[in-house]
Amino acid sequence: MERNSERTRLCSLPWESFVLRNQGAPMIAPCNHFEPTWPADDLAQCDAGLRSLRQSLLSGVPPEPCRTCPTKPDCAPPALSDRIADLELADENREIEAVFAALRAGDALPLPELMYRVAHTRSDYQFTGSGVVNLFEILPILLPHLAGPDQHLLDWGCGCGRLARHLIHDPRFASYTGCDIDAEAVEWCRLHLRGGEFLCIPADPPVALPDRAFTAVIGYSVMTHLERELQLRWLAELYRLTAPGAVMALTVHGDAAAERHGLAGRLSEEGIIDEIQDATLDGIAPAGYYRATFQSRSYTERHWGANFEILDYRARAIVDYQDLVILRRR
Ligand SMILES: C[S@@+](CC[C@H](N)C(=O)[O-])C[C@H]1O[C@@H](n2cnc3c(N)ncnc32)[C@H](O)[C@@H]1O
Repeated sequence: MERNSERTRLCSLPWESFVLRNQGAPMIAPCNHFEPTWPADDLAQCDAGLRSLRQSLLSGVPPEPCRTCPTKPDCAPPALSDRIADLELADENREIEAVFAALRAGDALPLPELMYRVAHTRSDYQFTGSGVVNLFEILPILLPHLAGPDQHLLDWGCGCGRLARHLIHDPRFASYTGCDIDAEAVEWCRLHLRGGEFLCIPADPPVALPDRAFTAVIGYSVMTHLERELQLRWLAELYRLTAPGAVMALTVHGDAAAERHGLAGRLSEEGIIDEIQDATLDGIAPAGYYRATFQSRSYTERHWGANFEILDYRARAIVDYQDLVILRRR
């Protein structure tokens, strides 16, 4: 890996995009000014520490010891810079570059309420950065399954373009179409994101798009909100909309997400929990429509295979929370 001669100010990094993958090294400290340091082999402690750091950075309140960092660009301990390289965090470093580039691009941002509907954040930084980070999680798993560069992408549930704002510039896709049930979000995309088609669709299929139009689909956190019968109706519709051999990347709340919410026991008995209401789209989606749905891996494998082959299933692939399911249209 090429080392950047200009030293990165570690305290300025978006820590949420870091995943500590190392074991057994003596110590990791993100910055000389941050206390405490964590033993690197205690991943739980490192993780908890980085999460609290991330929270303070995202809310614009650096932890007290870090306030002087911007005037001390050399504060990164060289040993740690080397460690980061050695730990094969190259991907995450590219992520960081991409997050910064996206922020610097200065593209129009949706109103905070629109951002909140898709990502539960009103922060420009988190909205932009999380889109980059999620694509870094999805695309390396999706792209190897695609036949070539001329892919026609459907971003199912595009919202106000958290992923679209990056995907429309991605040369690996010949065309980009985003669709969502949220008319206001779709209208925002239409007005502000050049290079894609955007369309408002009903909560129940069908949609006004032709058969077999797409060779790739991304559905980020859409199935996570649908009750079981509706999931199946949408899978059938996605089958209609995709060409034979098309590949889809859909995320779900799987076993790990259920465990985080204390639902693991229920999930292992029931396979799917789809009655929990989610109020985020109150007044936008039909009453009672929007859920917080959890489904076990075995449920997904049993019920999603009628028209699609499950090529890959990555538990906790998305910010260590949602699972990513890669499906090929039969
Ligand atoms: C959690 S948000 C994720 C949005 C976007 N994929 C992203 O990553 O920022 C879920 C989105 O799915 C949309 N949605 C819900 N049901 C849908 C459906 N049947 N078809 C398309 N979009 C849907 C919602 O309006 C919302 O924008």
